[in-house]
Amino acid sequence: TVLVLDFGAQYAQLIARRVREANVYSEVVPASTPAAEILERRPAALILSGGPSSVYEDGAPRLDPALLEAGVPVLGLCYGFQSIAHALGGVVAKTGTREYGSTTLESLVSDSVLFDGQDDDQVVWMSHGDAVTGAPEGFTVTATSSGAPVAAFEDRERRIFGVQWHPEVGHSTRGQEVLANFLHKGAGLGSDWTAANVIDEQVELIREQIGDARAICGLSGGVDSAVAAALVQRAIGDRLTCVYVDHGLMRQDESAQIEKAFGESTGGARLVMVDAREDFLNALAGVTDPEAKRKIIGERFIRTFEKAQADIIAESADDPNAPEVRFLVQGTLYPDVVESGGGDGTANIKSHHNVGGLPDDIEFELCEPLRALFKDEVRAVGSELGLPDEIVWRQPFPGPGLGIRIIGEVTAERLDLLRRADAIVRAEMTAAGLDRQIWQCPVVLLADVRSVGVQGDGRTYGHPVVLRPVTSEDAMTADWARLSSDLLARISNRITNEVDGVNRVVLDVTSKPPGTIEWE
Ligand code: XMP
Repeated sequence: TVLVLDFGAQYAQLIARRVREANVYSEVVPASTPAAEILERRPAALILSGGPSSVYEDGAPRLDPALLEAGVPVLGLCYGFQSIAHALGGVVAKTGTREYGSTTLESLVSDSVLFDGQDDDQVVWMSHGDAVTGAPEGFTVTATSSGAPVAAFEDRERRIFGVQWHPEVGHSTRGQEVLANFLHKGAGLGSDWTAANVIDEQVELIREQIGDARAICGLSGGVDSAVAAALVQRAIGDRLTCVYVDHGLMRQDESAQIEKAFGESTGGARLVMVDAREDFLNALAGVTDPEAKRKIIGERFIRTFEKAQADIIAESADDPNAPEVRFLVQGTLYPDVVESGGGDGTANIKSHHNVGGLPDDIEFELCEPLRALFKDEVRAVGSELGLPDEIVWRQPFPGPGLGIRIIGEVTAERLDLLRRADAIVRAEMTAAGLDRQIWQCPVVLLADVRSVGVQGDGRTYGHPVVLRPVTSEDAMTADWARLSSDLLARISNRITNEVDGVNRVVLDVTSKPPGTIEWE
């Protein structure tokens, strides 16, 4: 594992993603983790992230020199680079001016490890106040820039490297090569983080965890739970039962489609369809607070799974050797864990239904084979497992469904309204060929807002719906998608004409951050 030490960077997750793109497994840990604990994990290499501090500030996160003396290859980025210089006796100067944005490198040493085979004219993304003006003893300066007299250095013997810029962001033209050079040439790591290896490793771990017991898997119709189910199916065969809960918060015709697609996707695992529509709607009556909704939905899911569990146990009541039904398989991803406050020091932004939304008194043991993966990795694993494109490339849809896309109380009438508007949006997006380009396009009903309109010479007093089309790589950050005005016009016309009760269509033009993708 390559550990990314997070010094408070906006980009720490992104660094881990880029490392994995170079086929090396990587995780993020807070920089405050004691050095002994970090080294105990026997990291294959360390990457020190950037961060907002100056090495001279009181209370700035410190780099423990022990990490540089352990013989583990190290790459420092930005603040991490300056920390190395500071710790090993180099000179870090307060320049007083910030260098921010794109810069071209100068005097690049092309037979260095990081720049092997590259030439001078590479553009890099800088964002720093202090600058390294003198490299520590034993280091060679391998690049400079106008604002950074030492823009990169390396000590091949100790295998310690650093760059002042951010190779992980797309604006750095050769950034991925620089990272790959560190991993493969500097640290000598192989490329063994591949979908096929993830499958072998996970199947092994699932067998170990579940043993002889039986498991049920909550299937949502999305790629995550389908891939989780397929992995567990491969590991324990027909001791897995999939449970699809129709909570009444799905989109138009979705439940039927999921039942149909299921057969192909999990190689014949058993599927139980549960109709819990009334149950969920009753539990949500009168509730408007987003976190309360999420908690209620999370709890309802678990209670429904418990009932399914009891049914499965009852079926095999005659068989004294029937294994326990003890595990609940979920398609929880790495970003869900981080955003539900699972990562150390991260704020609880919202309780994703399958992580923070779980009740405390849950009796299942959880099996979450995708907990370390990003969405694109899940898709690669799904393809490798032979799941159909229709499932692998399905756009994300949140577990709490339309329940968190109705701002205000969730009622049957409001769900019906939103379903009809959403179906139009999805049909038009598909017709425009945008399904793979757009990450997803939530349609949100502002159920407590009404505005005046005019239609067919009459006054209307209806609700607005919001279109929230976004592009994203992993849902951790997102940008609003620039849909063509023709497409927007078509969607707007159709919704206001075809959905009685909606008289206004508005477009959300907020990126994430500061907005989140879903409105609740
Ligand atoms: P946010 O709104 O947090 O969404 O920016 C990030 C991504 O996660 C999806 N999402 C969820 N998925 N259970 C899920 O399975 C949830 O509770 C949940 N909440 C949000 C959202 O659709 C987006 O893709």
